[in-house]
Amino acid sequence: MKSINICILTLIAAALTGCGDDKFDLEIPGQTETVTPGEGEESTPSDERNELYRPAVHFTPAKNWINDPNGMVYADGVYHLYYQYNPQGNGWGNMSWGHATSTDLMHWTEQPVAMLRNEWGDIFSGSAILDTENTAGFGKNSILAFYTASGDHQQQCLAYSTDGGMTFTQYEGNPVIANTSLPDFRDPKVIWHEESKQWIMCLALGWSQQIEFWGSKNLKSWTKLSTFTTDSARSNIGQWECPDLIRLPYKGGEKWVLIVSNNPGGPAGGSGTEYFVGDFDGTSFTAMPLDYPLWLDYGSDNYAGVTWSNVPSGRSIMIGWMNNWNYAGDVPCSPWRSAMTLPRELSLKEVDGNPLLATAVVKELDGIAGEWSESLPAGTAAWEARVTLPSNEASSFRIENGAGQFMEAELNAAARRLIVKRNSNSGEVSFNNLFSQPGISAPLNCEGDKIELHIYVDRSSVEITNADGTMCLTNVVYPKEPYSVITGLSGVEYRPLGNK
Ligand code: FRU
Repeated sequence: MKSINICILTLIAAALTGCGDDKFDLEIPGQTETVTPGEGEESTPSDERNELYRPAVHFTPAKNWINDPNGMVYADGVYHLYYQYNPQGNGWGNMSWGHATSTDLMHWTEQPVAMLRNEWGDIFSGSAILDTENTAGFGKNSILAFYTASGDHQQQCLAYSTDGGMTFTQYEGNPVIANTSLPDFRDPKVIWHEESKQWIMCLALGWSQQIEFWGSKNLKSWTKLSTFTTDSARSNIGQWECPDLIRLPYKGGEKWVLIVSNNPGGPAGGSGTEYFVGDFDGTSFTAMPLDYPLWLDYGSDNYAGVTWSNVPSGRSIMIGWMNNWNYAGDVPCSPWRSAMTLPRELSLKEVDGNPLLATAVVKELDGIAGEWSESLPAGTAAWEARVTLPSNEASSFRIENGAGQFMEAELNAAARRLIVKRNSNSGEVSFNNLFSQPGISAPLNCEGDKIELHIYVDRSSVEITNADGTMCLTNVVYPKEPYSVITGLSGVEYRPLGNK
């Protein structure tokens, strides 16, 4: 239904602007409006500067629109974070790869735009690897970026950087995977598969709800290996985007996890990230029979996340786009629009006999944290709280500010769920009628009669996890002053977070 609405909007927009046959007229499912890249238009009703909601410790660009994280790779001591970026405005369009770097995943430095939309179309999402063996022949330790060129069709392209990820040159043989028939075919994630000694590319087929796996020895010529689908009806509601395939230790062995972003099939409505646990043999991914869909985060605002490539010690570190296509174009942020989640470290935990994907905030957060205490210094914009609650007794609490605004949370012991209420009590909600949500709910996903909650608050977000990250609720909020305290519970400890 939504895609039909979008098509109608596209036609109306084309008729109004007279640019219907412009080859770069694009639409993106989940958007409430059609954007014609290349014109740098603002979709913001007002371009007033509003720094009130600017996160203190989450990545945001100085100005302009961002969505998915892209091309994350660790190289020469630096974490590179590229992202879908509109260099010309605060609405979706002119998709390019913005760029930021960090040495600790906490302090980010925005760099010049790494890849600008070009004659092939928009530079959609993708991944990057460090070519330590000079497999592709662009030079030892070049950074290779794989992305979807979205013009007339969505095709997979390669670009390489020989200056440490600052600038990229397009491979003259592009596209490396051509496509003239599939309507959705995008978001290449490339990983190395040691056993079969080949590179694997995962690709999402959108509304077909399929993930394709392709293989390559030289990173330039690719062969299709297999297609993954699921019979989980709930997983087949939205379009599939931004896949990732990772291997994680589990019970003395290991399991593979296939991560799939799903819009608008998410658990809180709109965008969500689900995963399948199973095995990958170098050709196909086979999911274990588990109770799918399993969500990496049950909140409304953790989408399109994928992991960094080449992280030391084999850690799987992910970052997500902290927004939701249901209302992304309307969130009241200016002159920038959208932040990334806190980086999370992925692991598999056994809960009630089954593997669950845990997404705990990375330990690097300690590097920007103050001491734990019973209260926070006045004026703290970003903080973490921890508290242990009985998981078999009902309780509720509020995360609130001095202006009477709060996000309420309720632990429903009988249902073993944590429910947060993001309604008009939480702050500004009127910008989009899908934003206010009376009950965003996550399974506790823990055993025993206690749950340790960690609550990460910034000027416009609340991320709640349990101690190991098997329960996760990430939501953006827009209070008129930062939340500063948790009420309704005893024993809460706090520590301020900030750039040190
Ligand atoms: C996910 C997504 C990707 C696409 C990008 C375009 O949010 O739709 O599938 O590559 O955004 O900006």
